[in-house]
Amino acid sequence: MLAINNLSKSFGRNVVLKDFTYHFKPKTIYALMGANGSGKTTLFNIISGFLQADSGTILFYEKNITYFPPHSIVKLGLSRTFQDMRLVPTLNVYDNVLLALKNKHSEQLINAFIPQKKDRYETKIKNILQQSHLYEQKDVKASEISYGQQKLLNLAVAMANDFDVLLLDEPVAGVQPEFREQILALIKSFDKTVIVIEHNPLFLEKLTDTILFLDGGKIIAEGSYASISVNKQVQEAYL
Ligand SMILES: Nc1ncnc2c1ncn2[C@@H]1O[C@H](COP(=O)(O)OP(=O)(O)OP(=O)(O)O)[C@@H](O)[C@H]1O
Ligand SMILES: [Mg+2]
Repeated sequence: MLAINNLSKSFGRNVVLKDFTYHFKPKTIYALMGANGSGKTTLFNIISGFLQADSGTILFYEKNITYFPPHSIVKLGLSRTFQDMRLVPTLNVYDNVLLALKNKHSEQLINAFIPQKKDRYETKIKNILQQSHLYEQKDVKASEISYGQQKLLNLAVAMANDFDVLLLDEPVAGVQPEFREQILALIKSFDKTVIVIEHNPLFLEKLTDTILFLDGGKIIAEGSYASISVNKQVQEAYL
């Protein structure tokens, strides 16, 4: 469903992705591992249209989306979160999700705050907030909820786009165990293709058996955490 072929990207002399090729299957959870600076976020940026590849193709449901802009890619059902959360701190939890929903439907920003229009989205937002354990915080400003709850809200915002593929950039980094478990359960409940950038072995073991290890611009190993961690190339890359 998401087929990446021979994707390459350099920043000046820094070759980050080199002939990256991988075909992601429907309804599968993947983890993407790799040393700092190995190109994980760059890969997400290219797939989601925030960066342009130098060469290669990205097919989503057999449609060539390689040079599509981000909003077109989101509309096709490919959603993402950012490593640095991009919430609107002065808006409450509810309105952060509402805003994402409105953006998806390409309506003018101002419409998001017109009462009648707001009602149309009420049920959907309520569902998303209940799923992400944030309903009780719906009226609290994003800047005033805890860090773990902000990570949940980051996910809730991505859920506002009805996705078939979700890219999560370090969704539990720095998160307390309680929220980490909630985020884990939420990711598993989607029944969609989810690609998660993550380093924490304990989290990875619970998340998936399909870990992809990125090094030298391509996938050098694939499998469970147990099998990946004994791989010599992986050990060298992580030193
Ligand atoms: N917009 C950019 N312009 C120039 N160089 C960039 C840009 N984005 C990323 N890079 C470089 O590309 C390399 C890969 O960065 P990237 O952020 O994809 O790594 P990462 O695997 O996500 O690392 P981390 O685990 O630290 O988040 C790094 O050397 C980085 O400095
Ligand atoms: Mg990164």
